Amino acid sequence: MTGNMTSPAVPVVIDAMQLADIPHVMHIEHRTFSMSWTSGIYQRELTANPWCHYFVLRPSQPHLPPILAYGGVWQIDTSAHIPTIATHPHYQNHGLGGYLLSHLLLVGAHLGCHEATLEVRVSNMSAQHLYQHLGFITVGKRPRYYNDNLEDALIMTLAPLDEAEIQATLNDRAQRLVHITLPPLSDRS
Ligand SMILES: CC(C)(COP(=O)(O)OP(=O)(O)OC[C@H]1O[C@@H](n2cnc3c(N)ncnc32)[C@H](O)[C@@H]1OP(=O)(O)O)[C@@H](O)C(=O)NCCC(=O)NCCS
Repeated sequence: MTGNMTSPAVPVVIDAMQLADIPHVMHIEHRTFSMSWTSGIYQRELTANPWCHYFVLRPSQPHLPPILAYGGVWQIDTSAHIPTIATHPHYQNHGLGGYLLSHLLLVGAHLGCHEATLEVRVSNMSAQHLYQHLGFITVGKRPRYYNDNLEDALIMTLAPLDEAEIQATLNDRAQRLVHITLPPLSDRS
Protein backbone atom coordinates (compact mmCIF):
# COMPACT_ATOMS: atom_id res chain seq x y z
CA MET A 1 0.00 0.00 0.00
CA THR A 2 2.02 3.00 -1.22
CA GLY A 3 1.68 6.30 -3.08
CA ASN A 4 -1.38 5.39 -5.10
CA MET A 5 -3.65 6.28 -2.15
CA THR A 6 -3.12 10.01 -2.74
CA SER A 7 -4.91 12.17 -5.27
CA PRO A 8 -2.59 13.69 -7.92
CA ALA A 9 -3.42 17.19 -6.72
CA VAL A 10 -2.10 16.50 -3.22
CA PRO A 11 1.39 17.98 -2.83
CA VAL A 12 2.69 14.91 -1.00
CA VAL A 13 2.98 11.22 -1.80
CA ILE A 14 2.65 8.48 0.81
CA ASP A 15 5.34 5.87 0.34
CA ALA A 16 6.67 2.88 2.28
CA MET A 17 9.76 3.88 4.28
CA GLN A 18 12.99 2.53 2.76
CA LEU A 19 16.38 1.98 4.42
CA ALA A 20 17.70 4.89 2.31
CA ASP A 21 15.15 7.17 4.04
CA ILE A 22 16.61 6.61 7.50
CA PRO A 23 19.13 9.52 7.43
CA HIS A 24 16.29 11.91 6.51
CA VAL A 25 14.05 10.36 9.17
CA MET A 26 16.83 10.83 11.74
CA HIS A 27 17.15 14.49 10.73
CA ILE A 28 13.50 14.99 11.77
CA GLU A 29 13.69 12.52 14.69
CA HIS A 30 16.47 14.50 16.43
CA ARG A 31 14.52 17.74 16.04
CA THR A 32 11.17 16.45 17.27
CA PHE A 33 11.80 13.96 20.09
CA SER A 34 13.70 14.41 23.35
CA MET A 35 14.14 10.61 23.46
CA SER A 36 15.05 9.92 19.84
CA TRP A 37 15.08 6.46 18.32
CA THR A 38 18.44 5.49 16.79
CA SER A 39 18.96 4.70 13.11
CA GLY A 40 19.63 1.11 14.25
CA ILE A 41 16.11 0.89 15.65
CA TYR A 42 14.66 1.98 12.31
CA GLN A 43 16.91 -0.48 10.46
CA ARG A 44 15.70 -3.34 12.67
CA GLU A 45 12.09 -2.25 12.33
CA LEU A 46 12.34 -2.22 8.52
CA THR A 47 14.28 -5.47 8.18
CA ALA A 48 13.34 -7.71 11.13
CA ASN A 49 9.87 -6.80 12.37
CA PRO A 50 7.22 -8.41 10.19
CA TRP A 51 4.42 -6.78 12.18
CA CYS A 52 5.33 -3.17 11.47
CA HIS A 53 4.60 -0.90 8.53
CA TYR A 54 6.37 2.44 8.21
CA PHE A 55 5.48 5.20 5.79
CA VAL A 56 6.90 8.56 4.78
CA LEU A 57 5.35 11.61 3.17
CA ARG A 58 7.47 12.77 0.26
CA PRO A 59 6.87 16.19 -1.34
CA SER A 60 5.69 16.14 -4.92
CA GLN A 61 7.01 19.63 -5.51
CA PRO A 62 10.67 20.69 -5.75
CA HIS A 63 12.79 22.63 -3.24
CA LEU A 64 11.42 20.82 -0.19
CA PRO A 65 13.14 18.34 2.14
CA PRO A 66 12.98 14.74 0.82
CA ILE A 67 10.73 13.66 3.71
CA LEU A 68 8.12 15.87 5.36
CA ALA A 69 6.66 13.38 7.84
CA TYR A 70 6.93 9.74 8.83
CA GLY A 71 5.24 7.25 11.08
CA GLY A 72 4.48 3.62 11.63
CA VAL A 73 1.86 1.13 12.69
CA TRP A 74 2.38 -2.18 14.46
CA GLN A 75 -0.15 -4.94 14.11
CA ILE A 76 -0.56 -6.49 17.58
CA ASP A 77 -3.28 -9.14 17.27
CA THR A 78 -6.36 -7.09 16.40
CA SER A 79 -4.87 -3.83 17.64
CA ALA A 80 -3.08 -1.24 15.48
CA HIS A 81 -0.45 0.42 17.63
CA ILE A 82 1.14 3.68 16.49
CA PRO A 83 4.73 3.54 17.83
CA THR A 84 5.82 6.85 16.34
CA ILE A 85 4.77 9.71 14.11
CA ALA A 86 6.47 13.02 13.41
CA THR A 87 6.30 15.94 11.01
CA HIS A 88 9.32 18.01 10.01
CA PRO A 89 9.31 21.00 12.43
CA HIS A 90 9.09 23.50 9.51
CA TYR A 91 5.99 21.81 8.11
CA GLN A 92 3.86 21.17 11.20
CA ASN A 93 0.27 22.47 11.33
CA HIS A 94 -0.21 22.05 7.58
CA GLY A 95 -2.32 18.93 7.93
CA LEU A 96 0.49 16.49 7.15
CA GLY A 97 0.43 14.66 10.49
CA GLY A 98 -3.33 14.11 10.36
CA TYR A 99 -3.11 12.92 6.79
CA LEU A 100 -0.35 10.44 7.57
CA LEU A 101 -2.01 9.22 10.76
CA SER A 102 -5.28 8.63 8.88
CA HIS A 103 -3.32 6.54 6.39
CA LEU A 104 -1.68 4.52 9.20
CA LEU A 105 -5.11 3.85 10.71
CA LEU A 106 -6.42 2.77 7.34
CA VAL A 107 -3.52 0.34 6.98
CA GLY A 108 -4.37 -1.03 10.43
CA ALA A 109 -8.01 -1.43 9.42
CA HIS A 110 -7.00 -3.20 6.19
CA LEU A 111 -4.91 -5.59 8.30
CA GLY A 112 -8.04 -6.50 10.25
CA CYS A 113 -7.40 -4.47 13.38
CA HIS A 114 -10.46 -3.43 15.36
CA GLU A 115 -8.88 -0.66 17.41
CA ALA A 116 -5.91 1.70 17.39
CA THR A 117 -3.73 2.50 20.40
CA LEU A 118 -0.88 4.86 21.18
CA GLU A 119 0.93 6.53 24.05
CA VAL A 120 1.54 10.27 24.28
CA ARG A 121 3.26 12.50 26.82
CA VAL A 122 0.81 14.31 29.10
CA SER A 123 2.53 17.58 28.11
CA ASN A 124 2.26 16.97 24.34
CA MET A 125 -0.90 18.96 23.72
CA SER A 126 -0.49 19.38 19.96
CA ALA A 127 -0.30 15.61 19.45
CA GLN A 128 -3.20 15.02 21.85
CA HIS A 129 -5.36 17.56 19.97
CA LEU A 130 -4.62 15.83 16.70
CA TYR A 131 -5.48 12.41 18.12
CA GLN A 132 -8.69 13.74 19.65
CA HIS A 133 -9.71 15.30 16.33
CA LEU A 134 -9.32 11.88 14.74
CA GLY A 135 -11.52 10.29 17.42
CA PHE A 136 -9.00 8.95 19.94
CA ILE A 137 -10.00 9.02 23.59
CA THR A 138 -7.84 8.74 26.69
CA VAL A 139 -8.36 5.40 28.43
CA GLY A 140 -5.52 5.30 30.93
CA LYS A 141 -2.14 6.48 32.06
CA ARG A 142 1.31 4.90 32.34
CA PRO A 143 2.98 6.65 35.30
CA ARG A 144 6.60 7.82 34.82
CA TYR A 145 6.69 6.15 31.40
CA TYR A 146 9.36 8.35 29.77
CA ASN A 147 12.89 7.82 31.07
CA ASP A 148 14.24 11.30 30.31
CA ASN A 149 11.98 13.23 32.70
CA LEU A 150 9.79 10.45 34.17
CA GLU A 151 6.76 12.05 32.58
CA ASP A 152 3.49 10.09 32.52
CA ALA A 153 2.10 8.74 29.25
CA LEU A 154 -1.56 8.89 28.36
CA ILE A 155 -2.93 5.77 26.70
CA MET A 156 -5.27 6.72 23.88
CA THR A 157 -7.44 4.43 21.78
CA LEU A 158 -9.69 4.69 18.76
CA ALA A 159 -12.40 2.05 18.32
CA PRO A 160 -13.97 0.70 16.31
CA LEU A 161 -11.44 1.16 13.53
CA ASP A 162 -14.11 1.74 10.93
CA GLU A 163 -12.59 1.72 7.45
CA ALA A 164 -15.28 3.86 5.83
CA GLU A 165 -15.02 6.52 8.52
CA ILE A 166 -11.21 6.61 8.33
CA GLN A 167 -11.32 6.73 4.54
CA ALA A 168 -13.65 9.73 4.79
CA THR A 169 -11.26 11.42 7.23
CA LEU A 170 -8.30 10.65 4.96
CA ASN A 171 -10.10 12.15 1.96
CA ASP A 172 -11.11 15.17 4.02
CA ARG A 173 -7.49 15.69 5.13
CA ALA A 174 -6.29 15.24 1.53
CA GLN A 175 -8.70 17.97 0.40
CA ARG A 176 -7.24 20.28 3.00
CA LEU A 177 -3.73 19.48 1.74
CA VAL A 178 -4.73 20.47 -1.78
CA HIS A 179 -5.32 24.00 -0.56
CA ILE A 180 -1.99 24.55 1.11
CA THR A 181 1.31 25.57 -0.35
CA LEU A 182 4.26 24.31 1.60
CA PRO A 183 6.94 26.95 2.09
CA PRO A 184 10.47 26.11 0.92
CA LEU A 185 13.12 25.63 3.58
CA SER A 186 15.15 28.81 3.76
CA ASP A 187 18.01 27.50 5.90
CA ARG A 188 17.79 23.77 5.00
CA SER A 189 17.78 22.99 8.74
C1 LIG B 1 2.12 15.57 16.52
C2 LIG B 1 2.56 15.94 15.12
C3 LIG B 1 3.00 14.65 14.40
C4 LIG B 1 1.38 16.54 14.36
O1 LIG B 1 1.81 16.78 13.03
P1 LIG B 1 1.25 18.01 12.18
O2 LIG B 1 1.72 17.79 10.79
O3 LIG B 1 1.56 19.29 12.82
O4 LIG B 1 -0.31 17.72 12.29
P2 LIG B 1 -1.51 18.42 11.52
O5 LIG B 1 -1.02 19.69 10.92
O6 LIG B 1 -2.16 17.41 10.64
O7 LIG B 1 -2.56 18.64 12.65
C5 LIG B 1 -2.32 19.33 13.79
C6 LIG B 1 -3.64 19.40 14.52
O8 LIG B 1 -3.43 19.69 15.83
C7 LIG B 1 -3.85 21.02 16.06
N1 LIG B 1 -2.73 21.61 16.75
C8 LIG B 1 -1.51 21.77 16.28
N2 LIG B 1 -0.74 22.36 17.22
C9 LIG B 1 -1.52 22.56 18.30
C10 LIG B 1 -1.31 23.10 19.59
N3 LIG B 1 -0.12 23.58 19.97
N4 LIG B 1 -2.34 23.15 20.45
C11 LIG B 1 -3.52 22.67 20.08
N5 LIG B 1 -3.77 22.13 18.88
C12 LIG B 1 -2.79 22.08 17.99
C13 LIG B 1 -4.12 21.65 14.75
O9 LIG B 1 -5.16 22.59 14.85
C14 LIG B 1 -4.50 20.48 13.93
O10 LIG B 1 -5.86 20.22 14.19
P3 LIG B 1 -6.82 19.49 13.15
O11 LIG B 1 -6.75 18.04 13.57
O12 LIG B 1 -8.17 20.07 13.36
O13 LIG B 1 -6.28 19.71 11.79
C15 LIG B 1 3.70 17.00 15.13
O14 LIG B 1 3.30 18.06 15.96
C16 LIG B 1 5.05 16.46 15.58
O15 LIG B 1 5.82 15.93 14.79
N6 LIG B 1 5.35 16.61 16.90
C17 LIG B 1 6.64 16.17 17.43
C18 LIG B 1 6.70 14.66 17.50
C19 LIG B 1 5.56 14.13 18.34
O16 LIG B 1 5.23 14.67 19.38
N7 LIG B 1 4.97 13.01 17.85
C20 LIG B 1 3.86 12.37 18.54
C21 LIG B 1 4.37 11.50 19.62
S1 LIG B 1 3.03 10.71 20.50
